[in-house]
Amino acid sequence: MMLDRLKQLETEAREALGKVHDGAALEQFRIAYLGTKGQLKAAMTWLKDAPKEIKPQLGQSLNKVKADIEAAFNELQAKMGNAKPPQEAAPGRARIDVTEPGLPPRMGRVHVIQQVIDELVEVFGRMGFDLAEGPELEDEKHNFNDLNIPLQHPARDPLDNFYIDEHHLMRTQTSTVQIRVMEKTRPPIRIVSVGRVYRPDTHDATHSSMFHQVEGLYVDRNVSMVDLKTTLIQFAKAMFGEDAQVRLRPSYFPFTEPSAELDIQMKIRGQMQWVELGGCGLVDPNVFQAVGYDAEQWTGFAFGLGVERIAMRRYGVEDIRWFFENDVRFLRQF
Ligand code: FA5
Repeated sequence: MMLDRLKQLETEAREALGKVHDGAALEQFRIAYLGTKGQLKAAMTWLKDAPKEIKPQLGQSLNKVKADIEAAFNELQAKMGNAKPPQEAAPGRARIDVTEPGLPPRMGRVHVIQQVIDELVEVFGRMGFDLAEGPELEDEKHNFNDLNIPLQHPARDPLDNFYIDEHHLMRTQTSTVQIRVMEKTRPPIRIVSVGRVYRPDTHDATHSSMFHQVEGLYVDRNVSMVDLKTTLIQFAKAMFGEDAQVRLRPSYFPFTEPSAELDIQMKIRGQMQWVELGGCGLVDPNVFQAVGYDAEQWTGFAFGLGVERIAMRRYGVEDIRWFFENDVRFLRQF
C-alpha cells in the first residue's frame, strides 16, 4: 500500500520535472518535492507508521526514490545552466533584476523662495550690487523716521504694523536696510538686500502677512530715472526672459521723489493681469539729510520688490499661499 503510494509519488515527481522549462518552475518543483516542506520529505515520515515487515523495504525505496529524484533535479538544473531568468524570480521572493539601473537617491531641495533669492542676488550681483543685511525686528527710526515717514503718517497705524512695544516693530519693508547701510557707509553705494517683512494684511492669492522683499539702493553723482529704469528692465529680462511685459506707473512713497511702481503681466487664478512687483524712485533729499549725506552732491535710486510675486511670475504659481503650506509635492517641483 505505502509502496504503491511511493511509486505514484515518484511518477508524479518525474512528470512534474518533465514539465519544467525555466528557472522559476525548477525552483517551484524543488520547493514542492525536495524542500523541507516538500512531498518527499513528508513521505519519509511514512516509515514510522509502516507495518514492521515492510519497513526495511519501504526505507530502502524511500531513499532510492529521493536520491533518484534529486539526481534528476540536479541534472536538469545543470542543463539549464543554473540560470534563473531575471524576470521570473521564485514565487515568494522579491523580484530583483540586477541589470536594471538603480533608483537615484532622492535629494532634498532648497525651498523655491530661497532659490529665487539666490537667483536675485546673482542677477543683481552681476550688475555690481553687493549684498547687505538688516534686522527683522526694527525700531521706528529705521522703519519710519529716517525714511521720511513722520509720526502722524497713516503707515504707522498700529493696525497696519506688528508692533512689539511702543517703539519697536517687525519691519514692514526692507527699505530699513537703505538707512542702515547709509549710516555706516559713504557713497558711492550699490547694494541689494533680501529678507522677510511683516504686515497684518489679509491673506489672498497675492498677499501674505509674512513675505520677502528685495531692496536695491544706488547712490552716486548724477543718478537718474533712466538708470533706475535700465536696471529694472535688465533685471526683468534676466529673471523672466526677453519678452517679459513690464511697466512703470507713477506712484508715491515718502522716501522717493519721483516714485513709481513696477508692474508685470502674469496669470492669477487663470487670468492675465498686471500685478504690482514693487515700488521704486529717486532717493528723497530728506532721506539723505537723515543719514548725513549732502543732498546737493549725491543722488540715488532705490527699489523694493516682492520676492514671492517674482517667484509666482517666474514659475507660473498662481497663489502665494502655496509657498508656505509646506506641501512637499508642490515644493518638489522646483
Ligand atoms: C514698499 O514696501 C516700499 N518699501 C518699496 C520701495 C522701496 C519704494 C524703495 C521705493 C523705493 P510696497 O508697500 O508697495 O512698497 O511693497 C512692495 C512690494 O511688496 C509690493 O509691490 C508687492 O510686490 C510686495 N508686497 C506688499 N505687500 C505684500 C503682501 N502682503 N504679500 C506679498 N507681497 C506683498
